[in-house]
Amino acid sequence: MKVVETIAEMRRLRLELTEPVGFVPTMGYLHDGHLALVKRARAENPSVVVSLFVNPTQFGPQEDFASYPRATRRDLTMLEKGKTDIVFMPSVAEVYPPQFDSWVEVGKISQRLEGAARPAHFRGVTTVVAKLFNIVQPAKAYFGQKDAQQVVVIRKMVTDLNMNLEVVTCPTVREPDGLAMSSRNTYLNPEERRAAVVLYESLKLAQRQWSQGEKDAAKLRQTMTALIQKQPLATIDYVSIADNETLEELDKVKPPALVSLAVKIGKTRLIDNVILE
Ligand code: PAF
Repeated sequence: MKVVETIAEMRRLRLELTEPVGFVPTMGYLHDGHLALVKRARAENPSVVVSLFVNPTQFGPQEDFASYPRATRRDLTMLEKGKTDIVFMPSVAEVYPPQFDSWVEVGKISQRLEGAARPAHFRGVTTVVAKLFNIVQPAKAYFGQKDAQQVVVIRKMVTDLNMNLEVVTCPTVREPDGLAMSSRNTYLNPEERRAAVVLYESLKLAQRQWSQGEKDAAKLRQTMTALIQKQPLATIDYVSIADNETLEELDKVKPPALVSLAVKIGKTRLIDNVILE
């Protein structure tokens, strides 16, 4: 496994890889969810590149960029075990030199849900992912369903800008009690960690009611909201049942519908989702 810090070196080593290349972009602090992406990339491509880059432009001014958890040495050991060929871990200055001033912005769907709560977030995500795609030139790129809107936005960017690669979405990996794996789970104290299971419980409740015939999205949102409100450590940011492509809120559930939510547990904002299909 080679660890590369500059774009020039990444491009040089990229030439030596056997095609096609599978790519897993990450912000590090890896967990089993990331490793599932690497495993899938490994199974589907002779070469695998993983990036570790905590991207400052996708964090708002009041968000956790500075404190975002980092564990590079541990990440590298995990990636070595996962048979990664190249780890690309550039500095912020390498990706965003002082004169940097170009942005990739996907329209309406970037402004809903997470985009409404975090205004410049997706502009940062799409800009860095476009740059990483240009640098790594993968045939396939792997993303987790956990960040459902991110996948929808990146797919839209790839389609609209004719990027020559396939976006592969992999299922959310969960802890035994159902909590979706996330680097941010590390912020939770033991009591909050127990409370955090309410996100998945509310999603399962919606799924169950829908499969029993409830098609009224407002009712499903209501039952989810009521369940979450019973948890004293939880504060709801949004509970949404939306079309999985346009991300417009639905009145009547028409599959595939994205049921997603953002909830603060204590000070930690968590997101999760399921698709009704
Ligand atoms: O999902 C993430 O970890 C990030 O948003 C990504 C795709 C690596 C871009 O910084």
